[in-house]
Amino acid sequence: MIRKDIKALGAYHVPDSSGMIKLDAMENPFPLPGDLKRSWKAKLGEVELNRYPDADMHDLRAKIAARDGLSADQVLLGNGSDEIIQMLLLAADPGACASPAPTFVMYDLISRWLKRPVTTVPLEADFSLDAKKFLQLCSREKATIAFLACPNNPTGNMWSEATIREIATNFRGMVIIDEAYLPFADRTHTKLIAPNVLILRTYSKVGWAGLRLGYLLGDAKTIAELNKVRLPYNINSLTQASADFFLDHFDVFEKQAKDICLERSRVMDALMAIDGIEIFPSQANFLLIRVKGADSIFEQLKEKNILIKNMNPQGGLLKECLRITIGNKDENGALLLALKEILT
Ligand SMILES: Cc1ncc(COP(=O)(O)O)c(C=O)c1O
Repeated sequence: MIRKDIKALGAYHVPDSSGMIKLDAMENPFPLPGDLKRSWKAKLGEVELNRYPDADMHDLRAKIAARDGLSADQVLLGNGSDEIIQMLLLAADPGACASPAPTFVMYDLISRWLKRPVTTVPLEADFSLDAKKFLQLCSREKATIAFLACPNNPTGNMWSEATIREIATNFRGMVIIDEAYLPFADRTHTKLIAPNVLILRTYSKVGWAGLRLGYLLGDAKTIAELNKVRLPYNINSLTQASADFFLDHFDVFEKQAKDICLERSRVMDALMAIDGIEIFPSQANFLLIRVKGADSIFEQLKEKNILIKNMNPQGGLLKECLRITIGNKDENGALLLALKEILT
């Protein structure tokens, strides 16, 4: 009844985090300010839930596009950027999906669901990406689609502009530059948009993870083709109304992202002062650290009610690595204290 290869897969595991300090999923730690919350609730009260959502979402797409000087027909919306990754992998020419390794797991996982071969190019020891090696492998494996997470998850670094440009201009298939962590990074790649080069983004990390809204920016003709594999009404009415409202108050979320970046520097400095921790540069809202005994440290943090992400089981470059989402001041303080207790 169920395909053998699906039976062999594990389900995407989300650990139970009830009652814990949650620093595992790159969420924004700040709640909505009270006045904004009240006006938002009033706006939601106007939504007609007996009707299907707006299927075309022209005005919402126009509002999103305008922030990058683009037009509504250059935007595709998804139920989280995960859904857009699925649409891209459904629509791209048959052939391998290429990505650096390690990177965001969904490129690989969704490819497998769709029986698309995957090919990965290992990052260098310092997590940099060799564009020549990447392009050679893509051509040898006849890759038709490539994902570049910029900044990369779980390593947190941003590959050089020259590297991204070299891949974007020389790869023959579709190149997706995934800017999920743009709010915490110092560079976007929108100027690289071309018929085969698209920019993927999400509102999850900026504070709307519960809404599930991602978007793809690209050439209008390519977006129109991809729109054919979008499920009707994929963005529910409450998400549409919320996004429309929050985009009018986007400065609030941008300020929160700035505060997260300040906390990131503070946490980084504090971690550097702890013996035995190697910390990697980050342009995202998380830090990757390498420390001896990562499995045990992860478990001990859990016992202290702090949930981070243990990357050690993935092995390779992620051996002895832990990924820590930047939380609010108190959460970060609790994490630093707990780490100091465990390591000294
Ligand atoms: C690089 C990258 N892309 C996409 C996503 C998925 O985001 P969304 O919540 O929009 O599905 C993530 C989530 O962690 C991510 O790290």
